[in-house]
Amino acid sequence: MGLTDGIRSIADLDLRSKRVFMRVDFNVPLDAQRRISDDTRIQASLPSIRLALDAGARLICGSHLGRPKGKPNPAYSLEPVAARLAELLGKEVTLVDEVVGDGAKNRVQALRDGEVLLLENLRFHPGEEKNDPQLSKDLASLCDVYVNDAFGTAHRAHASTEGMVHHVAEKAAGLLMWKELEVFGRLLDNPRKPLVAVLGGAKVSDKIQVLKNLLDRADTLVIGGAMANTFLLAQGKSIGQSLAEPEKLDLARDLLAGAAARKVAVLLPTDVVVAESLEAETGTTVQAEKVSEAQRILDIGPETLAAFGKAVKSAGMVFWNGPMGLFENAAFAHGTFELAKAVAASEAFTVVGGGDSVSAVNKAGVAQKIDHISTGGGASLELVQGLALPGVVALSK
Ligand code: 3PG
Repeated sequence: MGLTDGIRSIADLDLRSKRVFMRVDFNVPLDAQRRISDDTRIQASLPSIRLALDAGARLICGSHLGRPKGKPNPAYSLEPVAARLAELLGKEVTLVDEVVGDGAKNRVQALRDGEVLLLENLRFHPGEEKNDPQLSKDLASLCDVYVNDAFGTAHRAHASTEGMVHHVAEKAAGLLMWKELEVFGRLLDNPRKPLVAVLGGAKVSDKIQVLKNLLDRADTLVIGGAMANTFLLAQGKSIGQSLAEPEKLDLARDLLAGAAARKVAVLLPTDVVVAESLEAETGTTVQAEKVSEAQRILDIGPETLAAFGKAVKSAGMVFWNGPMGLFENAAFAHGTFELAKAVAASEAFTVVGGGDSVSAVNKAGVAQKIDHISTGGGASLELVQGLALPGVVALSK
């Protein structure tokens, strides 16, 4: 069963003169001057927005930005987003300074075919994150058609992603949402073999379900980053002062045994880059057995990188989530950036998800060579865990 089964695509709807509410995820990073530092998420929904406007829809876009906790707060206003969207579309985008209410209703009423407005941050309303029934109805009353293109927020059951969907007659996935579901559906149910999953990041506990679910699907699990330290510890290796979760040792052993039983290869670091402090300006490469009591593992070593790179190269499909080390410190970024390059160079169908991995492929300058960069770190991990996303389930009912 594919993840898009039972769901309609925006491309199949007649949108002329219809009031279309499109939930987008414009939760973009802003710098101290409130300038957008990365507009990837706005760009990613342009195809759906353009399709709707070209089809003559009266488009109402809704998004959250950050976590303003149910209160209006100028620091979280969508003003810079509206300006950027207008620039990208080359047309006026009206920012409505409320989410629902008479002001919003009047602005929607005045919309003509092919015009677009953006509601102010949906999380300024206390009912949004509570999936409040009244807010859901009020939002639904603004439109004839509901489109969800906010893959990055599909794991949240909020009024604009879940509640309101039940009160709108016509509903569909946007083009971005569709593409994300299609790729992750393929990864889970029909991957090009061998499927190699590369997981990194700080904690095993964040990715237990991901690892468990992948045991039945992947041919090779490549584990790096601080989460690998718990596995090294479980194998009896000393890891010095490295970040690890000693309380998860049994779990790590179970996962390794589960992989062996299913003939899933598990690649762990065999050499590592160590230093005595997180702020160190250089590191030393040692074999994974040779980490001393004072040292911390902060990156994968060259031998490990070669082995990980080989697995990625011979893959049919690659899924990568999580850095290989403390890549925020340039002294320990090599493993993560080189892995990004190896993923990009692979002939496999490559999928990258998660803020740090996406930032690594961007910084390594190889983003163009990745087949699919997911716009949803949390949402994509929940899918790979085998969970149903509320925003997606609502579209299929
Ligand atoms: C994200 O950036 O992961 C999504 O926009 C969801 O945001 P949230 O974690 O604040 O719900």
